Amino acid sequence: MDMISGLRAAAAGTAGTGVDTARSRALLSDDLVSAFSLRGRTAVVTGAASGIGRQAAITFAHAGADVVLGDLDRDGLEATAAEVVAAGGTATVAPTDVSDRSQVNALAVAAVRAGGRLDVWANVAGVIRTCRIVDATPEDLDAVTRVNLYGTYWGVAAAGRAMKHGGSIINVSSAGGEMPAPTLSVYAMTKAAIAHLTRCAAAELGPAGIRVNAVAPGFTDTPMVQRLWTRPDGSVDEDARAQMLALRSAQSPLGTTATADDQAWAMLYLAADASRFVTGQVLRPNGGVVM
Ligand SMILES: NC(=O)c1ccc[n+]([C@@H]2O[C@H](COP(=O)([O-])OP(=O)(O)OC[C@H]3O[C@@H](n4cnc5c(N)ncnc54)[C@H](O)[C@@H]3O)[C@@H](O)[C@H]2O)c1
Repeated sequence: MDMISGLRAAAAGTAGTGVDTARSRALLSDDLVSAFSLRGRTAVVTGAASGIGRQAAITFAHAGADVVLGDLDRDGLEATAAEVVAAGGTATVAPTDVSDRSQVNALAVAAVRAGGRLDVWANVAGVIRTCRIVDATPEDLDAVTRVNLYGTYWGVAAAGRAMKHGGSIINVSSAGGEMPAPTLSVYAMTKAAIAHLTRCAAAELGPAGIRVNAVAPGFTDTPMVQRLWTRPDGSVDEDARAQMLALRSAQSPLGTTATADDQAWAMLYLAADASRFVTGQVLRPNGGVVM
């Protein structure tokens, strides 16, 4: 049962949820369901092989979208696609290096070929690398900038050209783009730039009915951060994991860290008509770490 059918079943009292069915029926009007539905829409998600991108793709598919999955990691893409298909959705796997403009353009062509139109494009692919400013090399700057900044820029450009009926572009910034931290200057710089690219693109593409927004996640438990407590042999250093999660949780007034779901739900809001009057904004699912 996809997300929309599930909501309807709950509203009809058939999902065995134990909810007050009369009340749910009143609340889950057709307008409310369709405001969060992506049924009949084609959505591209980059970085879809892992973490936030994978969860966003699965969530968009649950909301009814045909998803087109871009990433460097073909095996990871196949695993995401298998989850989408198992949930009754449709997924197209399109291996893509987002730092390469021609590959990003090809991803847009593949999406339009798969769905006949393009409605949603989420630029999630990203990398992180630490270095002290005094030690940074051109390679450090290139490696991060090419994926995070160029990759997002080419994604916005390709989506802006391919969205013929309006649409929603969602970029991924970071709480790190607002909170200075030692050794993260290059990553943080790209994420701050993505927030401003989002505003520039919203101004430029709005007249074509294309909304451009970003999420700026706080610390989210994905393979990107799991590397902090994974030993070179692949085993998990449980003490390091517990310490890191405790440290990051303590920075949030909510006393916890995020899961990929928390980011995917925010992205679904930005993808769907529920946010139809929202553009040029950075939504910060960060547990209040930056306000
Ligand atoms: N996890 C966090 O705490 C956190 C916080 C703030 C922002 N973010 C951002 O969220 C996004 C997703 O991160 P995640 O935590 O899911 O990380 P992740 O490492 O789990 O996933 C990143 C994905 O990007 C893909 N990728 C890397 N380079 C690529 C390239 N050149 N072309 C195509 N794909 C490429 C990787 O293969 C991987 O599948 C990133 O932009 C990251 O900066 C993450």
